[in-house]
Amino acid sequence: MTVMDTIRARHSVRDYLNRPVEGEDFAALEGAVADAGVAGGLNVQLVRDNPEVFKLFLARYGVIKGARTSIVFVARDGEQDEAIGYWGERIVLIAQELGLNTCWQAMSARKKSKAEVPEGEDVRIVIAVGYGKTRGKPRKTKPLEVLCTFEGTGPMPAWFETAMEAAQLAPTGMNSQKFHITLRADGRTVTAEAPEGGLNAINLGIVKRHFELAADETGADWAWE
Ligand SMILES: Cc1cc2nc3c(=O)[nH]c(=O)nc-3n(C[C@H](O)[C@H](O)[C@H](O)COP(=O)(O)O)c2cc1C
Repeated sequence: MTVMDTIRARHSVRDYLNRPVEGEDFAALEGAVADAGVAGGLNVQLVRDNPEVFKLFLARYGVIKGARTSIVFVARDGEQDEAIGYWGERIVLIAQELGLNTCWQAMSARKKSKAEVPEGEDVRIVIAVGYGKTRGKPRKTKPLEVLCTFEGTGPMPAWFETAMEAAQLAPTGMNSQKFHITLRADGRTVTAEAPEGGLNAINLGIVKRHFELAADETGADWAWE
């Protein structure tokens, strides 16, 4: 399976089979979470069985059913948001390859996360992971013309279009897709930006992960500015 196949197959899933992730799947997740901790410099914890973190009162958006396993990111006041998105989405795509399903959760019962939270820090965001009742479905997306710019002449290079498809398929909070990617006139230098605030930096990290994996898979010679 290619990275693009995995990216195309991933959708947020909000209805699970009500059992925790186990066995080899759990071990693989543990590895991915440990990588995110070390390489991303993050406090990220895998909680095997805690449905309580997904139980919300009065929630209008995104109620998760039957999810028991969670990945919990603990941080000080949004300081590590982009890294959380970037490394969290790596875990999401590894979970997808394992045949698991996921959903990022900005809204969770943070106090019931069962994660160890040091003084002065808080649960920033949670990812639900488990065996979905379905594999989810495609959703609306902004068109590429809105999401990116090519500053050179002529059509967009094929590798950039592929990487942009991956960016377009990236999950963002409330499907906001508030990011913009620019390919400079040299045809290899890329910038990615998002407005400040809310979940935008987490979303940007997620989008950059998708773009990067897909661009690298094409074998293109490219770099972030
Ligand atoms: C940072 C972030 C926070 C999110 N928070 C929630 C949430 O609290 N509840 C929910 O149901 N979905 C949440 N989502 C999932 C988005 O709604 C979903 O990614 C978006 O609608 C696009 O759909 P897709 O993931 O199926 O492509 C979140 C996604 C991201 C990236």
